Amino acid sequence: MKKVLVGNWKMNCNKKEAEKLTKEVVSNIGNFNFLNLEIVLCPPFTALETVYRIVREGGAKIKLGAQNCYFLPYGAYTGEVSPRMLADFCDYVILGHSERRRYFNEDDALINKKIKAVLEEGLRPIVCVGEWEKGDSKEGILEQVRRAIQNINSEHMKKLIFAYEPVWAIGTGDEAEPTYANKIVREIKEITNGSVFVLYGGSVTSSNILNFIAQPMIDGALIGGASIKSEEFLKIIEKVRDYVGQS
Ligand code: PGA
Repeated sequence: MKKVLVGNWKMNCNKKEAEKLTKEVVSNIGNFNFLNLEIVLCPPFTALETVYRIVREGGAKIKLGAQNCYFLPYGAYTGEVSPRMLADFCDYVILGHSERRRYFNEDDALINKKIKAVLEEGLRPIVCVGEWEKGDSKEGILEQVRRAIQNINSEHMKKLIFAYEPVWAIGTGDEAEPTYANKIVREIKEITNGSVFVLYGGSVTSSNILNFIAQPMIDGALIGGASIKSEEFLKIIEKVRDYVGQS
């Protein structure tokens, strides 16, 4: 079973910092066997080309993702970046992250449009869903999923990835209970015909990564803070690589 590790750099790293971080990652994983493990880096738009070049030159089996996009391919939309433009560098696009929902008022209808646009371009959306407060019912999460997949055909469904990210766990050091995350991930798979990959995200570190990866339903992790510290990110990759090597 393939696992996926996605590093979400958020609004961090200018060109020089991105260069340094990517080189540290690439030079350390150059000869890893990645048969059952996909590594995805999601730098800010401005660093995509730099990261892309270093990954290619280093011959590393690393894919790129963006952190957001607009839902049309071209046009008079000042400041926006389209999936068609991202296709030059990326295989993935993170959509509906709670920070976009919270600070940029993105709602489920807009996220659904973006998901369709990304799929049309042949990219894979990584759609973030999760409850806002600890103890909130799971119904809200499942509703986000149902709205995300509205009018998405079965071929496209196969390319969809969800990330279950409890908002209270993001950047707080207070990760979800792995068995609870597994339960939510199972329910997400049940309402999406079981055909989607589902990751866990929220305060993932090298100390807790295997607790999530070892859960039967969880296909990988979306990693924020720990993905911009090369040593920590490499430790996470190494642990998961060793784990999938054995399984
Ligand atoms: P975190 O962020 O790993 O820093 O908690 C995860 C995310 O926001 O995707």
